[in-house]
Amino acid sequence: MNQYGKITYTGSYLPERNVTNEELSQFMDTSDEWISSRTGIRSRHVVTSENTSDLCIKAAQVLLDKSQIDPETIDFIIVATITPDYQMPSVACQVQAGIKAVNAFAFDISAACSGFIYSLSIGEKMIRGGYKRGIILGGETLSKALNWEDRTSAVLFGDGAAGVILEAVEKPHLLAEKLQSDGQRGSALTSGFQFNESPFYQSEGNKREQSSSFLKMNGREIFDFTMNDVSKNIQSLVDEHDFEADYFLLHQANIRIIDKLAKKLKIPREKFLSNMDKYGNTSAASIPILLDEAVNKGIIKLDSTQQVVLTGFGGGLTWGTMLLTL
Ligand code: ACO
Repeated sequence: MNQYGKITYTGSYLPERNVTNEELSQFMDTSDEWISSRTGIRSRHVVTSENTSDLCIKAAQVLLDKSQIDPETIDFIIVATITPDYQMPSVACQVQAGIKAVNAFAFDISAACSGFIYSLSIGEKMIRGGYKRGIILGGETLSKALNWEDRTSAVLFGDGAAGVILEAVEKPHLLAEKLQSDGQRGSALTSGFQFNESPFYQSEGNKREQSSSFLKMNGREIFDFTMNDVSKNIQSLVDEHDFEADYFLLHQANIRIIDKLAKKLKIPREKFLSNMDKYGNTSAASIPILLDEAVNKGIIKLDSTQQVVLTGFGGGLTWGTMLLTL
């Protein structure tokens, strides 16, 4: 018998420390007015002692507490992140240890702000292939990737983790998807350059003073990318499947991007949920944080016939849309 993946629980964890725009303006040449009018962001959560694995383990524990699922029955764990604690072990393996999911295999996915969408797609294929239950998380501590002296990027991002339990059911819930990438435009958004300090390495470009590993962004290019490529991606998938969405949950980069996309797609703005005012841009964590918040508020109901669009977009460049019924 065929089986398909369904989101059965959502959960999230935000670090306690909340930093307002006002607080940033005390040590950076910026203002609440500039940040909130251009981005919609008013505050963000940042870690003071935790790392990405800590946030992800706490989000996974929320999922286990809500569902009362025995962690030994989890088949796989996928974590989407661009800010892992280590290159190895993966955050997913740290989560596996943290929640004692002793029978799960675990790995990370690097697709920036599209990471959760890519991971959900992979997890759903795993279930179609025979696995019964998985945890998919997006988790980031972007605060460690930022140059806190660069006001053009530091004000935009926040830390957090969230995810879902995906379980095998008889009917498809992920109805369609379209994932895309364009490595040729990768320089528009970069972070975490890895220096090679081997005595044999000769490249001039490797010198620390010439290249920084901090997050760097060409804001205009990213804005244009969302208006051109991301809008086409959503439009083509929705049209192709004649999909009547109740809600659109887009990566939470910037309120202006969401306002303009809604206008361009001629979709009522109230169908687009947003919460970047409280959390900033949390990259791979932003869509699951938004989903969990909407479920907790009763806006999105997991055992309903609601139809939902999830769209991620970000570094790589990567982008992608999924059509789900709940
Ligand atoms: N506070 C005060 N002034 C600032 C700040 C700040 N935090 N940052 C930049 N400025 C100044 C600039 O120095 C510049 O000053 P100048 O004219 O004297 O040179 C002026 O504000 C305008 O700067 P721009 O970079 O042109 O600002 P813009 O209006 O384009 O807004 C923004 C920047 C919000 C990032 C915009 O480009 C944007 O919306 N980009 C979309 C991409 C995005 O939101 N990315 C998020 C992360 S990527 C992702 O998740 C996919």
